[in-house]
Amino acid sequence: MVTTRSDLVAAARELAGELLGFDSERWRHTAGVAERAAELAPAVPADDLELLVAGAWLHDIGYASTLRVTGFHPLDGADGLRDRGWEPRLCALVAHHSGARFVAEDRGLGEELHRYAEERSALADALTYADQTVGPDGRRMAFEDRIVDMLRRHGPNSPNARVHPRRGPYLAAIAGRVRTRLAVDGAPPTGEVPS
Ligand SMILES: [Fe+2]
Repeated sequence: MVTTRSDLVAAARELAGELLGFDSERWRHTAGVAERAAELAPAVPADDLELLVAGAWLHDIGYASTLRVTGFHPLDGADGLRDRGWEPRLCALVAHHSGARFVAEDRGLGEELHRYAEERSALADALTYADQTVGPDGRRMAFEDRIVDMLRRHGPNSPNARVHPRRGPYLAAIAGRVRTRLAVDGAPPTGEVPS
């Protein structure tokens, strides 16, 4: 049973490993996002850090075959967490990570996704920024390169490509806000050399 915030992170990591497989490429991406999220501590309220890292561990569990219902991983992941009794705020963060609503609406799943309240906060921004600065294999990527790589992998006829004129600026605005929060707090964004 999850009783403390540090238990929450450990339980999130364990569930992600069970569902994704501890030696899968998806696990390497997930572990990279969790590590990145922890580094974004200066960009979130201290009380939200554990929830951020737990969300990072769980954000892609919807790719697990055992959770697959709609085939849209943010929704399948959020539903899987909800069904297991995880806290509503965490379920909603998973549901809405990385601008999921744009793709959900394109795929006719907007109504289902919007059963989860979309949180607009430094925490939600940091989760998306962490996801969008770690590649599929777990390696760090610049935000801009990650977007280009995502569009190349999904292809020009994909929902991701179709919604990109709206989702792209939404994600870029998040990246801008997180970078500003990191800089304001005196820590230059990882991998970026201050001028
Ligand atoms: Fe991800």
